Amino acid sequence: MSQITPAQQLFDLTGEVALVTGASSGLGRRFAQVLAAHGAKVVAAARRTDRLKDLAASSPNIAALALDVTDTKGIPAALDEAERAFGPLTLLVNNAGIASGGRIVNTAEGEWEQVIRTNVDSVWHLSRAFAERIIARKGAGAIINIASLVAGRVGLSSASYAISKAAVLHMSKAQAWEWARHGIRVNAISPGFIASEMTDDYLASPAGQEMIRRVPQRRSGQPSDLDGTLLLLASAKASGFMTGAEINVDGGHALA
Ligand code: NAI
Repeated sequence: MSQITPAQQLFDLTGEVALVTGASSGLGRRFAQVLAAHGAKVVAAARRTDRLKDLAASSPNIAALALDVTDTKGIPAALDEAERAFGPLTLLVNNAGIASGGRIVNTAEGEWEQVIRTNVDSVWHLSRAFAERIIARKGAGAIINIASLVAGRVGLSSASYAISKAAVLHMSKAQAWEWARHGIRVNAISPGFIASEMTDDYLASPAGQEMIRRVPQRRSGQPSDLDGTLLLLASAKASGFMTGAEINVDGGHALA
């Protein structure tokens, strides 16, 4: 029987260098803090650099990087800058995203394009650039893509967002298959409703409260509800044989 690794070692990320997008708030901020608390060096990337400076000041393991994920031409330079902070990247958390509401016929001019640029194109370009670097140096790494409960659902109120997250989920699987031979694991987390700037107003509204009553656990989540899943997927010691997986973290919402 192989030796049993204690949990602290299983989730020890010392030696990993992570890039987390959309790290100025919500889930991304939490992801950066959790990875850093477990020993990873973390480049926290977002547009709101004032907020990133506070985050970076909270841990010697966190550095701030100004990054608009829709600026795909700027990605090589951004990755160069990220690697100047802590060395070659080994983890990428594609978290940045925007919501959109409304039915297809009511979607505002340009909104579809903005949602696809932010939620889908960025994941394509950043993941590809990250993978190319790992392949070139014959290294290993992991990508965690943040999809959504709605990736697998056709709702009537957030068509462009749901379509974008379905694309992220499918992209995760395509990336996982293509890059497995290069030592890159790719997995997706599909959160249900989690309190954040994106969801706070909705969750407090009568419609949001009604929705929560339909969640099997009868509650929305907190960013901390994703800590364990993030660590599992980030740690090669814990999930080295996992790639192409989707993990729902949603209080059972996908069942309802
Ligand atoms: P949030 O609005 O607090 O965070 C999204 C972050 O992405 C923000 O920091 C925002 O500034 C950043 N961002 C948006 N466009 C960007 C751009 N062009 N360049 C760089 N950064 C950009 O919301 P939350 O909830 O933390 O969302 C994080 C991820 O989780 C998103 O991908 C979202 O779709 C996903 N998600 C969230 C759920 C929730 O209930 N909160 C449920 C399912 C998925």
